[in-house]
Amino acid sequence: MANLKTVVITGAAGGMGSATAALFKSKGYQILGTDNREIPGVDYSVVGDVADEATWAQITAVIEQNNLSVSSLINIAGRNYFDLITEAKKSEWLNMFEVNVVAMVLGVKHLAPYLRKATPSSIVNMSSISAHIGTSGYAAYVATKGAVDSLTKALSLELAPQIRVNAVAPGWIETPFTVTGLNLNPDPVAYRKTVEKMHALNRVGTPEEIAKVIYFLASEDSSFMTGSIVTSDGGYLIKN
Ligand SMILES: NC(=O)c1ccc[n+]([C@@H]2O[C@H](COP(=O)([O-])OP(=O)(O)OC[C@H]3O[C@@H](n4cnc5c(N)ncnc54)[C@H](O)[C@@H]3O)[C@@H](O)[C@H]2O)c1
Repeated sequence: MANLKTVVITGAAGGMGSATAALFKSKGYQILGTDNREIPGVDYSVVGDVADEATWAQITAVIEQNNLSVSSLINIAGRNYFDLITEAKKSEWLNMFEVNVVAMVLGVKHLAPYLRKATPSSIVNMSSISAHIGTSGYAAYVATKGAVDSLTKALSLELAPQIRVNAVAPGWIETPFTVTGLNLNPDPVAYRKTVEKMHALNRVGTPEEIAKVIYFLASEDSSFMTGSIVTSDGGYLIKN
């Protein structure tokens, strides 16, 4: 329906993406989800690589064809890559920056004209506390999330005052992303306990807890916030 506000969510098939889509849906928004795999539970979907400009052309075509009023862009899609720096593969590093950073740039490039029309409007980017902590073997991930923080601040100025731009930086959240990471460890059960204890709250977070922060940053509840990187980490940074 053209009269409902629409939120575009990347990584909408993933742990935090699907939780975010469900929360916005419960608040009365339409969801245009994009991911490189099938996306259940959204109103409109575009399956493709977010780092590919053709995917964004398809997304704008869906917006035009359905006369959608886009009030927020939520950039959640992301990937991880492990290698010690002496083994670093240039192709992997380039793809990490394409998926975790350049895809956000493409999304903003293609959707800013629609967001400008639908005031008030906002963008929320997915960062990570990893931007502030070095993790051996994950330099590419850490570097891309640092870039997300800088990009968020730069875009918040360029798009002000019409479009607010903020980022969320979660601690460990229970999703397929972290389960894959845990399983790389020789003792995933013991490692998970260690990870839980790294958080002051002695547990990892849920996708629904981060979805609430994203909703806050996207909505007018945060109307005086732009250029902010909001940490939601169960006290990880303060403890370590
Ligand atoms: N899980 C955590 O602990 C955690 C913590 C901080 C930040 N993050 C970030 O949150 C985001 C979502 O992670 P998640 O934990 O929900 O993981 P997830 O793996 O469940 O979701 C990521 C989604 O992005 C999609 N995706 C990946 N590459 C893509 C591409 N090139 N094109 C289109 N879609 C693509 C995947 O298919 C997947 O559905 C990522 O940016 C991640 O870096 C995760």
